[in-house]
Amino acid sequence: MTEQDFLTVTDSRTGQEYTIPITDGTIRSTDLRQIKVSESDHGLISYDPGLLNTAVARSRVTYLDGEAGVLEYRGYPIEQLAANASFLEVAYLLIYGHLPSEGELAGWVEDISMHTFVHENIKDFMQGFRYNAHPMGMLLASVGALSTFYADANVWDNPGSTDLHIRRLIAKVPTLAAFAHRHNLGLPYVYPDNDLSYTANFLSMLFKMSERQYHPDPRVERALETLFILHADHEQNCSTTAVRVVGSSHADPYSCVAAGIGALYGPLHGGANEAVLKMLVRIGDIGNVPGFIDGVKQGKERLMGFGHRVYKSYDPRARLIKQAADDVFEARGTSPLLDIALELEKRALEDDYFVSRKLYPNVDFYSGLIYQALGLPQEMFPVLFALARTSGWVAQWLEMVHDREQKIVRPLQIYTGDRGLEYKSLTGRG
Ligand code: CMC
Repeated sequence: MTEQDFLTVTDSRTGQEYTIPITDGTIRSTDLRQIKVSESDHGLISYDPGLLNTAVARSRVTYLDGEAGVLEYRGYPIEQLAANASFLEVAYLLIYGHLPSEGELAGWVEDISMHTFVHENIKDFMQGFRYNAHPMGMLLASVGALSTFYADANVWDNPGSTDLHIRRLIAKVPTLAAFAHRHNLGLPYVYPDNDLSYTANFLSMLFKMSERQYHPDPRVERALETLFILHADHEQNCSTTAVRVVGSSHADPYSCVAAGIGALYGPLHGGANEAVLKMLVRIGDIGNVPGFIDGVKQGKERLMGFGHRVYKSYDPRARLIKQAADDVFEARGTSPLLDIALELEKRALEDDYFVSRKLYPNVDFYSGLIYQALGLPQEMFPVLFALARTSGWVAQWLEMVHDREQKIVRPLQIYTGDRGLEYKSLTGRG
């Protein structure tokens, strides 16, 4: 038995001393509530915009050490999973907590294949979008709309349906993602081909034209599978937190994942891969890199694809993505933007501005270049991120559902506005 550690604090306002237990290197924020200046005082509150220093869950899904550049899913290093596992195997691992046996994997793959089709009304719904609708917005709306198709979608009322909804989400998100892409191109949507692997089927739904069956280049298929594995989960990030926050109100899993897609859409999160490509196009030439770096240092803009809230050394995913990029460029030819990216990385890593702030390439610095080499437009980049991250969102959501410590999320605020004003009629407002 280990001895209990304590934090001892003295409140300078009252001179009172408090002893607060420390468990797993954390104190409970609610323990601060006992620190009061008077009986009517609410108690001390911790102020943490951006939740920089607040743990919101005990989780067994993903381990991350930002200083050391370590990422593990359920204890397995990301490097081993990227080299050896399939994406569906990793999704199973994340969701159910162990690597599947041969039989479990076969059953899981078959179940996922069985659920790839969507109701024709969902297709009609997507066809209602404007021709140039952003595919991420289409994905967000259509995943949310899925909840309207399943009367038992709310697992709090129907706990027996949980596994089915998990399978539906993993299976249908690629179909919706591919439909969104075809919609932008004005091409007929391609139905799933369940004889293909998860990733090959997705490539088929994206790119199939008149051939009887679409067979992707195996190097491309493996590279995309690797990207999916690297994007599958990343513990309590912005979008996962959105999923958990919405889930905390006992909303159905489709609405929760739709919330995750909304959070991922932003350029500071999953939209960064799209923003990197736009930035590289704008820089345009390797000779413009020094001027661009100067602009970043003067605070005119950010170097997209650089920096991370938790990684303070090289993002391990970025290293693995560089290898996947080589395979795709070998199969599809290199991009002229790659030279600009390499020069940006080289210069930034030699520059004190980036070094002193511990800004390194993150997962999104090279992923956009790979997606571009696959023939996908920039708008699809965050959609691919969302497809992969659905497995992590579902895993984290499931963990939250079974976590008895969780409550509806309802943070506090420090009110800084006016009080007790007197209503004035329109004419009296001056
Ligand atoms: N370019 C230039 N300066 C930067 C960058 C950047 N990409 N990122 C951070 N900084 C500077 C920032 O200006 C600040 O400098 P100072 O201390 O002088 O004010 C310092 O570094 C700390 O930045 P911060 O904004 O406090 O850091 P954060 O932890 O809140 O932000 C981040 C993390 C990822 C939002 C940020 O690094 C960023 O905007 N990066 C570019 C967008 C990007 O690539 N996002 C993808 C993240 S990885 C995919 C995912 O999982 O979402």
